[in-house]
Amino acid sequence: MPSLRYYGHSAFRIQDDRFSVFIDPFMSASPQCAIPVSDHKKCDFVLVTHGHADHFGDTLELAKKFGATVVATHELAVFCESKGVKVHGMAVGGAHDFPFGRVKMVPALHGIGSDPLPDGSQPPPSTPVGFVVTWGKAKSVYHAGDTALYSDMRLISEKKPLDVACLPIGDNYTMGVEDAARAAEWIEANLYVPMHYGTFPVVKSDPLAFAFRLEKLGRKCKILKVGERVEF
Ligand code: NI
Ligand code: MN
Repeated sequence: MPSLRYYGHSAFRIQDDRFSVFIDPFMSASPQCAIPVSDHKKCDFVLVTHGHADHFGDTLELAKKFGATVVATHELAVFCESKGVKVHGMAVGGAHDFPFGRVKMVPALHGIGSDPLPDGSQPPPSTPVGFVVTWGKAKSVYHAGDTALYSDMRLISEKKPLDVACLPIGDNYTMGVEDAARAAEWIEANLYVPMHYGTFPVVKSDPLAFAFRLEKLGRKCKILKVGERVEF
């Protein structure tokens, strides 16, 4: 059974006994996590939603250490390839089968910008995205990335309810609690996990308020602590 582990902010790892896939691995420099790349044991793929530093994070270091493949928009993938790592570029709306399952790149309504890396180079502007990861043949996780609420989110679970939906609630740069609860109303999932909050003062937000709203909607919310994981 695959598990979803939370590393704070929007960083997650999906893992089973065969594959280990990180999403938005902002970890070593995260005030919520601070796990150095050297502490990780395995990484096969890194999925990156966009070029902001609080998502790009340890992408290149993980890919270099483990020979992992970076999955991102074409523009970000080309940049990562120039840094000497394996990449798989995609564009929003597309899906692709990987050894661990299928990844669909879905829209995220957010900025196209990026932040400079420690070496002074900077990823190019690129469309921000979310991911629907179908693990194996059946289990699915939606990672919304950084996004505003948009009505086409309804389509994400239209054909089949998701197992887990990770939604940003920190406001300012993304949806806040109210809009994230609205998104949860539109997106069918067995479990909703809040993310992108509490890392910095500007994204301070109350996950309990999100959980309370979801409870009123009859939806199940799990507030993951940093390092905690759920099986799905
Ligand atoms: Ni961002
Ligand atoms: Mn962000």
